[in-house]
Amino acid sequence: MHVSSMGVSKFCFLFSLALCALLLLLIPALQPSQHQGDLPQPRAHTKPARHPGQWEAYRLSDRAEGGLPPTELELWWGLGSRSRTPLELKDIFIAVKTTRKYHKSRLDLLFQTWVSKAKEQTFIFTDGEDQELRRRAGANVVNTNCSAAHTRQALCCKMSVEYDKFIESQRKWFCHMDDDNYVIVPSLLKLLSSFQHTQDVYLGRPSLDHPIEAAERVKSDGSVSVKFWFATGGAGFCISRGLALKMSPWASLGNFISTAEKIRLPDDCTIGYIIEALLEVTLTHTHLFHSHLENLQRLPTDTVLEQVTLSYGGFENRRNVVSIGGAFSLVEDPSRFKTVHCLLYPETDWCPSKGHH
Ligand SMILES: *[C@@H]1O[C@H](CO)[C@@H](O)[C@H](O)[C@H]1NC(C)=O
Repeated sequence: MHVSSMGVSKFCFLFSLALCALLLLLIPALQPSQHQGDLPQPRAHTKPARHPGQWEAYRLSDRAEGGLPPTELELWWGLGSRSRTPLELKDIFIAVKTTRKYHKSRLDLLFQTWVSKAKEQTFIFTDGEDQELRRRAGANVVNTNCSAAHTRQALCCKMSVEYDKFIESQRKWFCHMDDDNYVIVPSLLKLLSSFQHTQDVYLGRPSLDHPIEAAERVKSDGSVSVKFWFATGGAGFCISRGLALKMSPWASLGNFISTAEKIRLPDDCTIGYIIEALLEVTLTHTHLFHSHLENLQRLPTDTVLEQVTLSYGGFENRRNVVSIGGAFSLVEDPSRFKTVHCLLYPETDWCPSKGHH
């Protein structure tokens, strides 16, 4: 064996060594993900649920979809800035909870304003058949057949139908709204774009400044208590598809109603309980969502259009509205929703054209 062939075999040896090292690195990445199944085990997930082992979760399809942040392997290959499909309006499922008696007084205003900007993605969940509403929104009206009473059972019944319809829809984000919310659609899209729908995301406004405490009756007999945060339903909240799928054992096909019955809490608290207490995923607190329970006048005027949801006071408190001036007076537009809408979309045909007011 002469010198040059020695050199070649030495090179071959080093090369195969490098190849082996590379293969070792790739093996975990090429294994199919174990988190792929739609329905998780009905036990609480431990902390890693937040970041499903990045090696395991790496799939080529995820890369294409922009499902997860870059893995170590991708960063190593310089793929950190992979192209992500931007979130589109059609990826969001917006559920609006209402009741028969508010079809005229509340829904008309919503259809006239923000719903017109998100017609395909907005679904109305109500409790009574209404031909006029049906003509207006067609298949986007869901008659839940739930009771029209404002009781815990009736509200949980509607939330349960909303959840099931969202899962069926295959969309990336579930956002629950009330019929007195104005959704600033571009802000919602922008906010959700900064999160990944494949990860565990629960976004909303905490209604209290401390977590709620309740008797744990799902995982134990109720002798121990559990503390958790929840997003107030009146301000609207959003849940990523990844997290919604994990909620299935306690939320799908009527399970939501039995979960709520066990802990004896309202619908929005029950959502918080399933996510924070059972799945151990934390609520991402945001103050961009607003309900009529807060002092809306305190919201600085120059920030109103940057919020994600707005609301207005009901009959008890008609003056609790966002302070914003523009096209309409308080008498013409008591909720301020038309004013907000005309500031966001001045080209709307019923908005007074500039210089006319
Ligand atoms: C409500 O009842 C009607 C009539 O029985 C049915 O067609 C519809 O599917 C029901 N809605 C839900 C959400 O179950």
